[in-house]
Amino acid sequence: MKISVAGTGYVGLVTGVCLAEHGHSVTCVDIDENKIAIMKAGISPIYEPGLEELMVRNMERLFFTSNYQEAYRDADVIFIGVGTPEKADGSANLKYVYEVAEQIAASVENDCVVVVKSTVPIGTNDKIESLIQSKLKHNVKVSVASNPEFLSQGTAVKDTLHTSRIVLGVEDEQAGEVLKEVYASFKAPIVVTNRKSAEMIKYASNDFLALKISFINEIANLCEIIGANVEDVAHGMGFDSRIGNKFLNAGIGYGGSCFPKDTKALHWLANFHDYELRTVKAAIDVNENQKLKLIKKSRKYYESLKGLNIAVLGLTFKPGTDDLREAPTLVNIPLMIEDGANVKAWDPVGVENFKKLYSEGITYCSSIEDTLKDADICFIFTEWDEVKDFDLKKYSQLMKTPIVLDGRNCYDLEDVQKQKLVYDSIGRETVK
Ligand code: UGA
Repeated sequence: MKISVAGTGYVGLVTGVCLAEHGHSVTCVDIDENKIAIMKAGISPIYEPGLEELMVRNMERLFFTSNYQEAYRDADVIFIGVGTPEKADGSANLKYVYEVAEQIAASVENDCVVVVKSTVPIGTNDKIESLIQSKLKHNVKVSVASNPEFLSQGTAVKDTLHTSRIVLGVEDEQAGEVLKEVYASFKAPIVVTNRKSAEMIKYASNDFLALKISFINEIANLCEIIGANVEDVAHGMGFDSRIGNKFLNAGIGYGGSCFPKDTKALHWLANFHDYELRTVKAAIDVNENQKLKLIKKSRKYYESLKGLNIAVLGLTFKPGTDDLREAPTLVNIPLMIEDGANVKAWDPVGVENFKKLYSEGITYCSSIEDTLKDADICFIFTEWDEVKDFDLKKYSQLMKTPIVLDGRNCYDLEDVQKQKLVYDSIGRETVK
C-alpha cells in the first residue's frame, strides 16, 4: 500500500513515522523545503521524545518531498495532518486543509482514500469530499474518511504506537476496509462510525478533558478558601472508575495547541447552530481566570511587581515540549514586564521559542540557580523534572526573599515545611 501524509507538524510527522514503524512505505509532504531537507538528513524539525530515533530507524521506508503531485499521484491512502489554527473569533482556520484537498484533487490518478487526521469542525469531511470531487482532474474514486488522532505532545510517539483507540469515520464500506488494513498491526480497539460522529468524538474527548481540568481547578480554588487539600480530594475521587484518576491535576490552567482551540471551536460551532454549550463555555472561562492565579497570589506578598526581581521557572505549556502555544506564561510574563518587574526565566527547551516572541525585557538563564539568584519571588509555570528534583534548600540560599508561587504543585508540602520559605501552591495550604 502506498501511503502519503500531508503536513509534517506534530500530527503529520508522528503519523508518518509511526506508520513506517509498522512496516508501511510513507511519503511525508510539506511545502517547507528547509524542513524537507532537515528530515531527509534524519533530523526531526520538532522536539518530540523518541521521534527522531524512530525516524532514523525507519529511513528506508520514509520519504520526504515538497513535490505533492509526485506524492499523491498514485497513492492508495493520503493522510491530511496539517494545522487548523484558531481564528480570532474562535472558529478553526481550515485554509491549510482545503489547500491540501485541492492539491490532492489536482494530482490523484488512482482511486484512493483521503484520511483527515487534522482536528476539523463537524461537517468538514463532507466539504472536503465535495471540494475534491468538484476539482478532480482524472476520473478516479476518492473517498474521504475521518480518523482523528489522540496523541499528546511530549508522548506523541507512544500515544500513536499504543493508541487507546482507532476511530474511523467512513461513509463507504470500502474506505473502512482499506483503513483497517492500514492499521492491521496496531493493537487497539477500532471504532467504525460515520464521518460526523468521528469528528465529534475528537472534539467531545478533548472538551471533556478540558472540562475535567477546569473542574478540578475550581475545586482547588475552593479548597484554598475552606482549607482542604485538592491533591487528597483528587486522589480520593480517582478511585471511582467512573471518574478515573487521570487529568485531575490542579494547576494554572490548560494550554497547548488543542484544548484552548478545540473548546472554543466547539463552542463556536454550537453557537453557529443557535445552541449554547454551557459546560464548555464554563471550562473556557474558568481556564482564562486560572491562568492569572499566580499573579493574583503575588498580591498577597507585594502590592505591586514594580522593581521586583522575578524568577520564572518553566515557559512551555507543559513539560516534554518546546511548544509555547497558549502557555500561561504568555499571559503572565507580559503582565510582569508591564508592571515594571525584572524578569529572569529558565526553561530547558522553550527559551529559543520564547525569545522569538520576547527578545527584550527578560533575562534568560541557563540554570535554575542563576534564575533564582537575588529573586524577590519565584513563579513556577511548568513542572519540568529539573524543577521537581531541585534541591529545596537552594531556594532560601539563593533568593533575596524566598517566596515560591507554584502553579504546578511540584513539591510535597511535608518537604517544603522543613525549609525556610513561603510556598504558595494550587488548592493546598500555604506553607510559611
Ligand atoms: C491533548 C490531549 O491530551 C490529547 O489526547 C489530544 O490528542 C491532543 O490534545 C490533541 O488534540 O492533539 P496536549 O495538548 O498535547 O494533548 O497535552 P495534554 O497533556 O493533554 O495537556 C494539555 C494541558 O492541560 C497542559 O497545559 C497541561 O498542563 C494541562 N493539564 C493536563 C492540567 O492542567 N491538569 C491535568 O490534570 C492534565
